[in-house]
Amino acid sequence: MKLVLIGSPGAGKGTQAKVLSKSLAIAHISTGDLLRNEMNLKTEIGLKITDMMNNGELVPTEIVCELLVKRIKEKDCGNGYILDGFPRNVEQAEMLEDITGSLDRVVYINVADDIIVERMSGRRSCQTCGQMYHVKYNSPMIDGICDNCNTVLIQRPDDSEETVKHRLSVFRTATAPVISYYKDKGLLLEVDGTGAINEISNQMLNLLGAAVEN
Ligand code: AP5
Repeated sequence: MKLVLIGSPGAGKGTQAKVLSKSLAIAHISTGDLLRNEMNLKTEIGLKITDMMNNGELVPTEIVCELLVKRIKEKDCGNGYILDGFPRNVEQAEMLEDITGSLDRVVYINVADDIIVERMSGRRSCQTCGQMYHVKYNSPMIDGICDNCNTVLIQRPDDSEETVKHRLSVFRTATAPVISYYKDKGLLLEVDGTGAINEISNQMLNLLGAAVEN
């Protein structure tokens, strides 16, 4: 199964992709995580993209595609995957067809902008295992420490209020047209991303189950 999750920054793509990936036994591919990994390792790519990432700008498509193509060849992707953060514009959506062939479904997680800013300011991430938390809605068992691997949690540099507002405007300009692109292809499912995390996961699994049966 090949799925795409689309949503504004902080809509819950990463949170839901982790749940769906376990439930459906398919890989979770986050292009944001692939890029942050390059930054953390200070590779040539990582050094090139640091300012763009921290300022909430899109990284050039050829760089993202290079990492994505490499990741899709890994063994755990054999059963399928959920793409989280790709495609980010119509150019990438067109390129994705060459990279993966046809997709099964695209799920748009719809969340209003005012909720996003609160979510992002409370987000904490684990740089070791990638697990995400929220200080209020999804807190770790021990404050500031990852439940999975005991790493100290960090706040992402691009989660400042000003950068989040810029990322939302990049989403509206560059990524929102991708929603219509997939709607026209009959692939789009939409969920309201403002309920409890497990309720949204259940809704997504039900919608996907029904869509695949039809
Ligand atoms: P990326 O890492 O993809 O960031 P993003 O799309 O901005 O999305 P986020 O990871 O910030 O949010 P999310 O939707 O995953 O929400 P989450 O589940 O964490 O990209 C970062 C950067 O990389 C980009 O700005 C760009 O520079 C570059 N990049 C990446 N892909 C690219 C591409 N294809 N092309 C070019 N450049 C690219 O949830 C957010 C918070 O809310 C968490 O704290 C979570 O616990 C909480 N939460 C989640 N769901 C709920 C809920 N239902 N109720 C309450 N709280 C919730």
